[in-house]
Parts: sequence; structure tokens; C-alpha cells
Amino acid sequence: MIPPHLFLLTLCFVQYIGKAPAVSVTDIQGTRFQSPLAGQNVQDVTGVVTAKDKYGFWIAGVPSEDIRESSGLRVYSPSAARKVAVGDLVSLAGRVAEYRAKNSPNDLTLTEIDLVHTMNHLSQGNDFFPIVLGVDRTPPIGKLSSADAGLDGWLSLPNNLTLLQEADTPLQPDQYGLDFWESLEGQLVTIPNPVSLNFPDRFGSFWVHGDWAVTGKNERGGLTLTFDENDVPNAHPEAIFIGRALDGSRNPKPFMGAILSNITGVVTYQYGYYYVLPLTAPSIVSSPEASPLPASFPTSTDACLITIGDYNVENMSPRSHHIPTIAKHITDFLHTPDILFVQEIQDDSGIRNDGVVSANRTLAALANAVQRASGVKYEFVSVDPEDNMDGGQPGGNIRVAYLWRPEKVFLATGYGRGNATQAAEITHDKGGLNLSPNPGRVNPTNLAWDETRKPLAAAWQTTSGERFFTVNVHFRSKRDSSSPQGNARPPVNGHGEERRLQANVVADFVESILAQDVNASVVAAGDFNEFVQTRSVFASLQELLFEPDVNVIPPEERYTYVYDQNAQAIDHMFVSSAVLARGATIEHVHVNTWASTAGSRASDHDPTIAQLWVCDSREADDDARALSMDVASQIVL
Ligand SMILES: *[C@@H]1O[C@H](CO)[C@@H](O)[C@H](O)[C@H]1NC(C)=O
Ligand SMILES: *[C@@H]1O[C@H](CO)[C@@H](O)[C@H](O)[C@H]1NC(C)=O
Ligand SMILES: *[C@@H]1O[C@H](CO)[C@@H](O)[C@H](O)[C@H]1NC(C)=O
Ligand SMILES: *[C@@H]1O[C@H](CO)[C@@H](O)[C@H](O)[C@H]1NC(C)=O
Ligand SMILES: *[C@@H]1O[C@H](CO)[C@@H](O)[C@H](O)[C@H]1NC(C)=O
Repeated sequence: MIPPHLFLLTLCFVQYIGKAPAVSVTDIQGTRFQSPLAGQNVQDVTGVVTAKDKYGFWIAGVPSEDIRESSGLRVYSPSAARKVAVGDLVSLAGRVAEYRAKNSPNDLTLTEIDLVHTMNHLSQGNDFFPIVLGVDRTPPIGKLSSADAGLDGWLSLPNNLTLLQEADTPLQPDQYGLDFWESLEGQLVTIPNPVSLNFPDRFGSFWVHGDWAVTGKNERGGLTLTFDENDVPNAHPEAIFIGRALDGSRNPKPFMGAILSNITGVVTYQYGYYYVLPLTAPSIVSSPEASPLPASFPTSTDACLITIGDYNVENMSPRSHHIPTIAKHITDFLHTPDILFVQEIQDDSGIRNDGVVSANRTLAALANAVQRASGVKYEFVSVDPEDNMDGGQPGGNIRVAYLWRPEKVFLATGYGRGNATQAAEITHDKGGLNLSPNPGRVNPTNLAWDETRKPLAAAWQTTSGERFFTVNVHFRSKRDSSSPQGNARPPVNGHGEERRLQANVVADFVESILAQDVNASVVAAGDFNEFVQTRSVFASLQELLFEPDVNVIPPEERYTYVYDQNAQAIDHMFVSSAVLARGATIEHVHVNTWASTAGSRASDHDPTIAQLWVCDSREADDDARALSMDVASQIVL
């Protein structure tokens, strides 16, 4: 940098005459991710100032016929920023840079001019017009990048096979989202009628789509992960992150489905994503009115018709403040199901790292809260992990657990509960098939479960004497994933390979049951931390088990979680073919994804509720089934 007083001098009196060529903004932006002039000194770069912040400003040059070439550009120069006003026509000289934040090697780079040494004011008060998205230019739907080849598109495994900026192929903005937003980098755009897709992040940034074609639109107004017409998962490149307003005004705190006032701002890339930085913060103009609906079916008195709830209750310990809210969800929204699969039950001392591994007090606190709310008394069980061996918050010893209503079902007796390292095995007794131990962990010493919660399998008996099986899972989390808008293509799906191996272990276990009875009733459910669109992870399990969702919930309404711009199902319930054939009902209850603030949620996941026939003998008994379904449908909630 040259000293400020010299800069001022040059600015006021000197027309810098160097050897650098005169170039346009579109020459600098070029037709690829990287500027063809990166690292070079340029001069007479002319444009109208469209926006500014403390560190620099953005200029609009003369547009090109070629839509790949952005006519907007970031100028990084805190000192020059103090000397320009929006509407000034300036001509400047400096260096073309591809900026990437330190310690963010997976970020794409931002084309900018830095080391500005000359700036001439040519005129003031010039007009400029934003590009209206959805009118002048429309984001593509479907894919983020041509580099996301593979059956599962951006979710394909293996991933990180190419680095986008090393390949640096010509942009295809009509087809691929990253190419589209790159082709607008530095430009001023308007997003008409933006719809928020999630809660803001901790910096106040939030995702929207505007008035243009989208995929996976759910009833609430969010965008759900779905497959496109070629059976490739949609990556929702039509959504864009909204960052901090350039004038310092504060963004509102929207949520999924909230409609905002029009946003005009500049397209930039920061923190691993394309953003629009609004000139001024938008406001919320309307919010979805509906409240989450409770399950549409009550529990049944039929011994064979079992309701199963599944809920990741987010780091619950005996003193957790959210226990009463979770109990209310179980009571009012899930109608106190016959069996509850829960995940993230911490030990009795919570995150205190003191060697305690029992969770009896945590589970008793939950069961007591449900009893206070509903009068229903639950029994519960979990298998204590070895201390600090199953991941999660250190000292918390989270595990999966079951709660159940003993008047409806009970654990098949005979073998007793297993310990942390004992594997549940299928066995026979005079009542039929059973598990030893029961409940027992699924192949807990398999390396696939390293630093992860082990699944808990159980053999159950109905009051009519029939047996069925459940597996409650909490697969390894997606920590260490890379940004879907980063350099690694396809993006890194953190621990995806571990989850694939974990699905294989569960599939082997389920197969050991089905090998004894091909018509066994088996339910595997929980937090799989993975989308079914990542088919490579679920392949082995999906050969044996089926999602009742597919028959009863439209694809865009299948979600239990919202991350980035995507409403997504990462909690699933899979059933064996015998259960599916008897007819199953399933609903995702949006008590948390429909909250009005992230802080008012009881958990980051929505619970799921299903009603399943678990007795083989009932299969033929159409009268009983019809009757029970009829009763269910008459209860209006
Ligand atoms: C992707 O792979 C490259 C090596 O080709 C590696 O340097 C980089 O760290 C990987 N990126 C991520 C996000 O893991
Ligand atoms: C939002 O933008 C659209 C498209 O430019 C325009 O038709 C509409 O009038 C704008 N709405 C408001 C409230 O300014
Ligand atoms: C937890 O409860 C189970 C049975 O409900 C019991 O066997 C076990 O000893 C209890 N653990 C502790 C540490 O109290
Ligand atoms: C679990 O039980 C088995 C068999 O009783 C025993 O050998 C093993 O040491 C126990 N493991 C733990 C972690 O208590
Ligand atoms: C499994 O169920 C099917 C359909 O009801 C039946 O045809 C078949 O005989 C059953 N198989 C066994 C081994 O029970």
C-alpha cells in the first residue's frame, strides 16, 4: 500500500500513466471462476459505485453480451472507500486479486481489485439499475456444479474428487448454481418477494428464494430435499444466503416460510457461500399462520396396532429445561405413543465428566414429566455406554433409549438387558423369536461404531402374545462436512463413509432376523444423520427395509430438520416388508422446524410418529383392521 498522503495526491492531481492495460470490469471477471487477469496490474477500470462498506465498494461496468461475464466488481480499499459516494463514476488502477480468507482453504475465491493506487472521479449522481432476479436473470434449479457427477449428484460418495477452482472450466450459469452466482459476482441484484427458508445463523444471515421457479417447495414455504426428474437429488442452487446489511441496519429474525420485503444488494462470496449483502436490511411482511399439527391418529386399543414415536430430544439430562416441552410434544402432538424411540439421552450427571454413565435419572425425569402432562406411565430402558466412548458432548455419554406403555407392549422376557459390549443375537424360545440379550446393542464392538452411539435392538411382545423387533439408531453426525458451495466437488459429506458402514451393520443384524422369519415385523428408526437421497449410504438397508413415508407423505413434506437452505429428513423409520404390506401410517410432526425462533425450539429435530400392524395373524383379519382405522379417522384433532 502507498501511504495515505501520497494516495490523496495521486487521487487529486495525477492521471497515473503506467504500462498496465486499460480493461473493463467484464474483462476482469472473465468467463470462469478465476479472473484471467488475476495477479496483474490494471488501469482505467471504469464503473459506477453501486454500494460501499468500510473496507471498499462495488462498481458496475458496462455489461457484456456474454452472461458469464459479471459486470460488477469488488474494490478492496478502505482508504478509497472513504472518498467515494454511491453514484460516482470512477476510473481506477490497481491489482486484480482472487481473494480467499486465511485458514479457509476450501472457500472459492472472490475476484476483486486491491492495491488501488489511482482513482479518478469522472462524474457524480449516475443512475444504475439492479438486475432483477427472476426477471432479468433466473437461478437454475437442480445442480450446484457440473463437477458433482455421480448417481447421487452433490451427495455422491466418494466426494472431493475435483477442486472446482483448479478445474476452472467455463461457467455454465443456465445449468449450475455456483456458475450462476459466480456470473453475478459483484453485481447489484434485486430479489423480489423473498421467502425465508430457515432461522438466521448466529451472525444474522439467512437463506431465501425469490419469485422464481424452485424445487421441493413444502406447504410451509421451505425447500425440501427431493429428487429431480432424472432421480438426482436437488441441491437448491436457487436459494441464496442473505448477509449483513451494508448500511449497518439489523436483519430481522425470520424463519421457514416468512415473507420479506424486496432485497437489493450485491452478490459476493464469503465464509464458504455466495451471499447477497443487502443495501439495507429487509423486514418481515408476513408469516405463515398455521401452527404445527399434532398426529392425525390416536393410539389404538388393538393389541396389534402399535404407535411408535421417534424423537431426537437434543442432549437431555435430568436438569434440562426443555424436558417439560418435550413431554408436552409427546403428550399433545404424538398422543403418548405405545413405544418411543429417543436419541441424545445424556447420563445422570449431564455433561459433567465424572465417570457416571447411567441415564436412569434422565429417563425417569422424562417419564415423570410425561406422566404429569398426560397421566400416562412409561417404562424405560437404555444400555449404558462405556464412559466417553460413544461421541457427543464430552462427559454426556449420550445414548438411544426406549420408553413404552406396559399396558400395551413389553420387552420379550427371558434374557435381560445387555451391557455396553454385548451384541444382541436372534434366538428362539417357546414364545417365538427373541433377542439375547434383550434389549441389546447391535454389534457394538464393530469398528463402524467407533466414537458413535451404538444402536439398541429390542424384541417386543404384544398383549396378544405376538413378537416384533425394533432397532433404535443414532448414526455418526455430519460434522466435518465441507460447504456445499466450496471448492471440493462433490462436497465432503462428513463421516458419510462411516454412516454407510453403520447402515451395513444394521442391515446385517436385520438380515439375521429375517433369515429366521422372512415375515418378521421389524422397525428400524432414529436419527440416521443422513438423507435418503444419499442412496449409497442406505443401499444395504434399503434392500431389506422400506420407508412407509413413500406411500403416505408427499416428497416435499418429508423433513425433520432444516440445515442451510434445505428442509430435510435425517430421521427415518424403516419397516420390514411384512409391516409395510399390512399398511402403515406415518407423519413428521413439525413442532420444531415450524418454531418462530431457533431459541424457542425444544430440539433441533422434529419427532416422527407412525402406526403399524405388528402381528402376522392380523394380516388376514380385515374386519378388525378396518374397524380400527375407522376409529382413528373419526377422531378430529
Ligand atoms: C479435498 O482434497 C484435497 C486433496 O486433493 C485436500 O487438500 C483438501 O483438504 C480436501 N478438501 C476437504 C474439504 O476435505
Ligand atoms: C418487489 O420487486 C418486484 C420486482 O421488481 C416489484 O414488482 C415489486 O413491486 C417490488 N415490491 C415492493 C414492495 O417494492
Ligand atoms: C437403572 O435401572 C435399571 C433397571 O431399570 C437397573 O437395573 C439399574 O441398576 C439402574 N442403574 C442404576 C445406576 O441405578
Ligand atoms: C459385558 O458382559 C460380558 C458377558 O457377561 C462380559 O464379559 C463383559 O466384560 C461385559 N462388558 C462390560 C463393558 O461390562
Ligand atoms: C410370508 O408372507 C407371505 C404373504 O402373506 C406368505 O405368502 C408366505 O407364505 C409367508 N412366508 C413364511 C415363510 O411364512
